[in-house]
Amino acid sequence: MSVNKDIKRVTVHTLRSMKDEGERISMLTAYDYSMARILDEAGIEVLLVGDSASNVMAGHETTLPITLDQMIYHASSVIRAINRALVVVDLPFGTYQGNSRKALSSAIRIMKESGAHAVKLEGGMAVQSSIKRILKAGVPVMGHLGLTPQSIYKFGTYVVRAKEEQEAEQLRSDAKLLESIGCFAIVLEKIPSKLAKEVAESVSIPIIGIGAGPDVDGQVLVTHDMLGITKEFKPRFLRVYVNLYDQIKSAAQHYIEDVKKRDFPNKEEAY
Ligand code: KIV
Repeated sequence: MSVNKDIKRVTVHTLRSMKDEGERISMLTAYDYSMARILDEAGIEVLLVGDSASNVMAGHETTLPITLDQMIYHASSVIRAINRALVVVDLPFGTYQGNSRKALSSAIRIMKESGAHAVKLEGGMAVQSSIKRILKAGVPVMGHLGLTPQSIYKFGTYVVRAKEEQEAEQLRSDAKLLESIGCFAIVLEKIPSKLAKEVAESVSIPIIGIGAGPDVDGQVLVTHDMLGITKEFKPRFLRVYVNLYDQIKSAAQHYIEDVKKRDFPNKEEAY
């Protein structure tokens, strides 16, 4: 897609100004050209090439199996579609934890090979040296705290995080740390609304919630969930805007019928 020079692009600075002005930030996931084009035209501010692609695109049970090469493939497809949105790409599991050099080279591969605008990674204090190294190279970093799906085998379940004071305190201090080292925003996933509000008020960078209640600076959902394509996933925080699973299925059934009864193609649809 050619870049439309009349459209003002969303940058990390735009998001900061939105927080300052009290304007809510909208963010959705995208993994392919066609969907990204629709969402960008709709006016979404941030597109996240999430490692949730591992679940919704590849059918894995967790986000752990997706590779850096696969994330780069998804991200470059999204980048070709957008005119305005800020595109943030998840660093997949195993490409940044415990080795800041590896983290930097993973982030650089994403930026260079896909043309994305920023990376996101999960965790606070434990991954701070990776984040610092990536930031030092000039790559914007979005943090992700609360329920961090790459650690699902440590948590054991997808239940609400930070309900106990000790974990809540750790989250508060991780959010402050991410702000102080230079992250441009933080995703807070599946934590009590009261805690999310407190964190959003305590930092100057935007807090984007998913299952974190209304009192944060923006919201993110997995696009396939809010479009009703992923049928079984129905957490309390999800609002389903359309039932595409049934609509696509019914359109496909209609097409099959038309083919069987030789109604498709008709004269006007043939050469
Ligand atoms: O991978 C993803 O889709 C995410 C969102 C749930 C925030 O990280």
